[in-house]
Amino acid sequence: MSQKKVLFTIFGATGDLAKRKLYPSLFHLFQKGELHENFAVIGTARRPWSDDYYQEVVLDSIKDIDATIQEAKEFASHFYYQSHDVQDTQHYVNLKELGDKLQEKYQIKGNQVFYLAMAPQFFGMISKHLKSQGILTGQGFERVIIEKPFGTSFDTAAKLNDELQEVFPEQDIFRIDHYLGKEMIQNVSAIRFANQMFESLWNSNHIDNIQITFAESLGVEDRGGYYETSGALKDMVQNHILQVLSLLAMEPPTKFTEEDIRAEKIKALRAVRQYSLEEAKENFIRGQYTNGHLGNDTFVAYTDEPNIAPDSKVETFVAGKFFIDNFRWHGVPFYVRTGKRLTEKGTRINVVFKQTPYDMFGQGTSEKLQDNVLTIYIQPTEGFSLTLNGKEVGHNFAIEPLKLDYRHDAQFAGNSPEAYERLILDTLEGDATNFSHWKEVARSWELVDVIREAWDNDEQPVPKYEAGTMGPQEAFDLLEKSNRHWVWMPDRWYRERGLL
Ligand code: BG6
Repeated sequence: MSQKKVLFTIFGATGDLAKRKLYPSLFHLFQKGELHENFAVIGTARRPWSDDYYQEVVLDSIKDIDATIQEAKEFASHFYYQSHDVQDTQHYVNLKELGDKLQEKYQIKGNQVFYLAMAPQFFGMISKHLKSQGILTGQGFERVIIEKPFGTSFDTAAKLNDELQEVFPEQDIFRIDHYLGKEMIQNVSAIRFANQMFESLWNSNHIDNIQITFAESLGVEDRGGYYETSGALKDMVQNHILQVLSLLAMEPPTKFTEEDIRAEKIKALRAVRQYSLEEAKENFIRGQYTNGHLGNDTFVAYTDEPNIAPDSKVETFVAGKFFIDNFRWHGVPFYVRTGKRLTEKGTRINVVFKQTPYDMFGQGTSEKLQDNVLTIYIQPTEGFSLTLNGKEVGHNFAIEPLKLDYRHDAQFAGNSPEAYERLILDTLEGDATNFSHWKEVARSWELVDVIREAWDNDEQPVPKYEAGTMGPQEAFDLLEKSNRHWVWMPDRWYRERGLL
């Protein structure tokens, strides 16, 4: 490990993301020695904070991390604040002055990372000024990390991308999808490509369907303003879900390198069937939560949450079916679903294998045998399990399902700083494997835009589901139409006990 030399400039430094994710992640890197003496952070935002106040905020954001006071203070002393109006050229002049001073003071050798943690409409303007005001000097590496959403449609994303690429070449643009930093998402490739047993079965001859579930128990919280412009489709499907789908569907890369992995992911996304409006309507359903309860907890309806229009038609749930038109996957549905205020927080992938051609133990049908399912648990627990069929112990010959289970608790539940830590380190090392390439983003928008349009043209009311359930009836019908069902049904436990 070599100590990194870098000046970070964080746009949106007073925001929630910076406090909850970035500062703790940078501190972990500091504790591990990845960042040591030769780094500095400029935080910028509109608010008129002083360096001292900013350092207090940084200290507060890392207070739960095990460290000595001296260590924490030493870390925070590398943080500087510059009040900044992104639209005002003079502020970039000040930013440059401060940047030059810190480069000198910390012997950074010109390396810079710009972290854009603010609304995307400013990205173009910021990058233009970074160039025109000479903040980019070409002396060291100059990379930009961009938070989602990357555009709101194909067209807006393309415009944004053009603006960025006028300043930064593709290899210096790091588009964050924090799911790609998660341990078990990275493990998908290990499970597939380090086990001949799975990879040899990983195709339409042996797999019946794949289910990707991103369930959240939280509601929209205080993000109503953003969520009203996004909805679950753009918030989760366009980015996280399609990224995971591409990792599951891609061909084995020749080498496990950024270039080869990206090429395969792009190919997989290109092979996802482009629906017509009619097909999109048939294969994708949406839902919105009403009030509900789970045990003793009661929840308000989406339309009663803060900053939500009382007649909002925004979806808080999506379920759908993608097909991948290539040799490997022809005819295998990839079911996806995500939603807020579902029964439980749980991100998991279920790979459902085909049944035996004939059930010699049953009545000549294979209905009584359980499906073999490989489940990859992303969070809150991490691990995987495989359901098989075996003989029930006893004199009679009866078949019962068995489960091989390997699981451990994720180090952090949810949207963990750990993922950010890994992704920031990747950026410093110039490794964009776990970031979204423009071609992936562009293709994802093409796939999602048509679903959005189909729904926008639809006069029907948005289907509703009670908070605490696993989505509207339409989500279940989607699979039942082809005699399938969702493998993961956490609501069942509550229903059986009359708690739902
Ligand atoms: C974000 C979405 O990208 O991912 C949020 O904007 C969502 O709406 C979050 O809650 C989920 O991430 P995680 O890591 O908590 O599963």
